[in-house]
Amino acid sequence: MTKQVVSSLSILLVFLFHCITTSGQPAAAPTQPANTPTQPANPPVQPANPPTQPANPPVQPAKAPAQPAQVPVQKGPIDVTKILEKAHGYSVFVRLLKSTGVAKQLYGQLNNSNIGFTIFAPTDSAFSNLKAGTINSLSDLQKTQLIQFHILNTVVTLSNFQTLSNPVPTEAGDVSAGAFPLNITTAGNQVNISTGLVNTTLGGTVYSDDQLIIYQVTKVLLPLDIFSPKAKKVAAAPTPTLSKPKTTKEDAPVSPSGAAKVDEAAAVSLSRHGMIESVGVAVVAFFVMKGI
Ligand SMILES: *[C@@H]1O[C@H](CO)[C@@H](O)[C@H](O)[C@H]1NC(C)=O
Ligand SMILES: *[C@@H]1O[C@H](CO)[C@@H](O)[C@H](O)[C@H]1NC(C)=O
Ligand SMILES: *[C@@H]1O[C@H](CO)[C@@H](O)[C@H](O)[C@H]1NC(C)=O
Ligand SMILES: *[C@@H]1O[C@H](CO)[C@@H](O)[C@H](O)[C@H]1NC(C)=O
Repeated sequence: MTKQVVSSLSILLVFLFHCITTSGQPAAAPTQPANTPTQPANPPVQPANPPTQPANPPVQPAKAPAQPAQVPVQKGPIDVTKILEKAHGYSVFVRLLKSTGVAKQLYGQLNNSNIGFTIFAPTDSAFSNLKAGTINSLSDLQKTQLIQFHILNTVVTLSNFQTLSNPVPTEAGDVSAGAFPLNITTAGNQVNISTGLVNTTLGGTVYSDDQLIIYQVTKVLLPLDIFSPKAKKVAAAPTPTLSKPKTTKEDAPVSPSGAAKVDEAAAVSLSRHGMIESVGVAVVAFFVMKGI
């Protein structure tokens, strides 16, 4: 009789122990008699009479709600530096695009599908044909202007060059104020570019889509405003203008994702640019004062 009681109690204990360890929380079990043996010598492996309650806790829905199947894949903006890196042979231009912050600005602005650019990308040999130190002697502002001088803020297809009127505006400055003139003339399939210091003919098309066309040029387009002997005597360099994205901050989505960040990045880049500009002007003024 006592043996039977002990046996049933052990079964109950084993069952309770199982419940606790599997479900992690004590089941609302009937209160145990206080004086149960702590450890039965040979607990039966399986209760002879399975308890009515299922031994295993009800299976929770194992899987979290599935990810929305249709995550719209955001095709990022066109990345000019990636295109040029893939094309090979433009490493100096790419480096300058990056170091001047112009690459970042292009990337931000190309995210707006209403904005497009034409880029004249000088080859590495174009840069190596320059007089030694030509680039290194430039201030940060001048480097930025030099790169911007190679960018038009419209998409100009090969057949559209003849429609341009000279001087053609570049990103480097306000051509209507006489700054950074660039002349482009066409005859047949030939497109000639002249800065007043450099004449060159447009090379092949490196890349082309609705928003961006990149042409190869085999000479660095040296703007008069930086490289003419006269330019070096002009104290105040003209303010470079940048085409601004049409999307204003107010238009940007309030969502925590990309767009606002990009605007911020552009703003930072612009203000940094403003700083470089002031420093550049100061440096030029210094040289002028020194009569260098
Ligand atoms: C373009 O330049 C080449 C020389 O590089 C010249 O022979 C040609 O006449 C020029 N064409 C135009 C339309 O300016
Ligand atoms: C560019 O074209 C304008 C207008 O045709 C002309 O006045 C100017 O002299 C040209 N400049 C250069 C560097 O060819
Ligand atoms: C560029 O071409 C023009 C005529 O098309 C010529 O007058 C000028 O001397 C050339 N400049 C250079 C640097 O070759
Ligand atoms: C581009 O613009 C869209 C819409 O304004 C925005 O959702 C996205 O995050 C932006 N992406 C980048 C890389 O700037």
